[in-house]
Amino acid sequence: MARVLICYGTSEGQTATVAERMGDVVDGEGHDVILAHLKHPPGELEPDSYDGIVVGASIHGGSHQRYVGSFVRDHLETLNRRPSAFFSVSLTAAHDDPDERAPAAELLEEFLDETGWNPDGTLAVAGALKYSEYGLLKRFVMRRIAGRASGDTDTSRDYEYTDWEDVEAFAREFTTLLRADA
Ligand SMILES: Cc1cc2nc3c(=O)[nH]c(=O)nc-3n(C[C@H](O)[C@H](O)[C@H](O)COP(=O)(O)O)c2cc1C
Repeated sequence: MARVLICYGTSEGQTATVAERMGDVVDGEGHDVILAHLKHPPGELEPDSYDGIVVGASIHGGSHQRYVGSFVRDHLETLNRRPSAFFSVSLTAAHDDPDERAPAAELLEEFLDETGWNPDGTLAVAGALKYSEYGLLKRFVMRRIAGRASGDTDTSRDYEYTDWEDVEAFAREFTTLLRADA
């Protein structure tokens, strides 16, 4: 049994939900999982005390949460030594057209370049439009963006684009890596 840290940054909660689903899969494979929101970590997080680390972040205004970048930079040596994986949640990743989806992969790579992290696995995950949780301005902005992209502009409901099978497969693959490393 390995100890696995799954930590993330989130602004509207979808990355937390993705992290929880990954946690369920890793836990189901018999490992010990700790989930942590990097904006409010439970005391001092010590990634070095885990056998594997998964980090997630979402994209807002073209970049991932800064505090996730800081966490990765602070623990770079550990992350590059232990089995590790990074997932990035965005609306761009929800596009069907690979050309439209490409910027999500580019931003993911940019995050890794900027931090110097070399994770064993990466995944660009389609996120959600949570109109019900946005304030007036955010709702207006996101409605305009969605109008140009998916056309999902009915602000009386939320939209979720996350491919849960992909998320679960990614988590299962990570447990394979843990077994290989043990
Ligand atoms: C104000 C705002 C700005 C956003 N900017 C981007 C963006 O630049 N690119 C993108 O692909 N998605 C963008 N999104 C979509 C989010 O990445 C998506 O809603 C994701 O599910 C958010 O994850 P979170 O709930 O974990 O923060 C934006 C969303 C909001 C609300």
